[in-house]
Amino acid sequence: MGYIFNSLVRKKSVSSITDAEGHGTGLHRVLSVRDLTFFGIAAIIGAGSFSSIGSACFSGGPAVIFLFIICAIACGFTAMCYAEFATRVPASGSAYTYAYVSFGELAAWIIGWALLMEYSIGNIYVAFSWSGYFVNLLEGFGLHLPAWLATNYPDAHQAFLDGTAGKLSDAWTTAPTVGGLHIIFDLPAVMINILVTWLVYIGTKESRNASNLMVIIKLAIILLVIIVGGMYVDIDNWSPFMPNQFSGVMAGVSGVFFAYIGFDAVSTLAEECKNPQRDLPRGMIYSLVICTIVFIILALVLTGMVSYTALNVSDPLAEVFAVKGIKWMLFIVSVAAVVAMTSVILVFQMGQPRIWMAMSRDGLLPKKFAEIHPKYKTPAFSTLVTGLVVGIPIFFVTPKFVLDFTSIGTLFAFVLVC
Ligand code: ALA
Repeated sequence: MGYIFNSLVRKKSVSSITDAEGHGTGLHRVLSVRDLTFFGIAAIIGAGSFSSIGSACFSGGPAVIFLFIICAIACGFTAMCYAEFATRVPASGSAYTYAYVSFGELAAWIIGWALLMEYSIGNIYVAFSWSGYFVNLLEGFGLHLPAWLATNYPDAHQAFLDGTAGKLSDAWTTAPTVGGLHIIFDLPAVMINILVTWLVYIGTKESRNASNLMVIIKLAIILLVIIVGGMYVDIDNWSPFMPNQFSGVMAGVSGVFFAYIGFDAVSTLAEECKNPQRDLPRGMIYSLVICTIVFIILALVLTGMVSYTALNVSDPLAEVFAVKGIKWMLFIVSVAAVVAMTSVILVFQMGQPRIWMAMSRDGLLPKKFAEIHPKYKTPAFSTLVTGLVVGIPIFFVTPKFVLDFTSIGTLFAFVLVC
């Protein structure tokens, strides 16, 4: 009994981790504060900013900005805890390694699986949102995907049962059937997952440059959205400011919290920073501050352009410009969304295998998970498993379910780190 208890709370010493995983991995310390800040923004601005912000604005009205401020404060404190750990234990296992050092093996094992909810399950939501905007983009080029290839099965079935008219029930009624089973799945979501898995598998030599470029594109286009959208703001739309009281504001919490998730992924780069003690805290805090400002302005522009009641859609940034008849912006918003979400998927899809690799090195997962591809130098097996863990549920879960699941799992990991 005593032996089992001792092994469950067995801890690692900081020096054993830094010796084994620090210089020993041969990773290059090339990242500066600017790279880390950009990497944080790459992971933060994605589906939350382009999709779930819509339903949060719908339930909270313009007062949803209070929720963005509350979440920013909570995430700011969490970022400081991450930063503190990342400087003491600069290893790529992130929260998993921190838990191993402070609480022991059992807590580390639990947090390892909570991180799975953040990175893998989170990517399912981002892939669904990516698909929504990608379909818009295709339509801009006159290409039309059948509804049954552009939505998920449970939502289409539910819409049909409820008798709701629209794309979802169309998907059900037009879908081909095999043995009575309707063939309905989100093809673009499946494709982006395969593509990113492949990219991460064959190596990410240029990932820093690619992610920096994607961040510049998404920030530039969001700025454009804010400037162009700002010209169409009608301040009457901000009244009532808090239409559903404070409880309505708080109802959007999983979506808003989801929008902030990602700053913690910066900590997985601890082994690749030039000066982790100084740069990691700064990178995380700078990216959080920049994103908070972007979110608040964006929420005010969206709720100012149209009534908050029109925002309960999966592509609110496109919706506001569609309502205002500004067609050329639809295309630009869709490009920005696709780029932004690709960068989130990429960062998360890279983070997950590295956590599994760390768990496998500690014997908490089979050794195969730590195997490095001889040619590509990536954790190949873990990367493929990540692709499956993200890809298979796309066929049978709904975005709402995975959004809540991700927020809960991430919150749990954050609480343990704090
Ligand atoms: N914060 C990331 C996003 O919104 C997860 O896509």
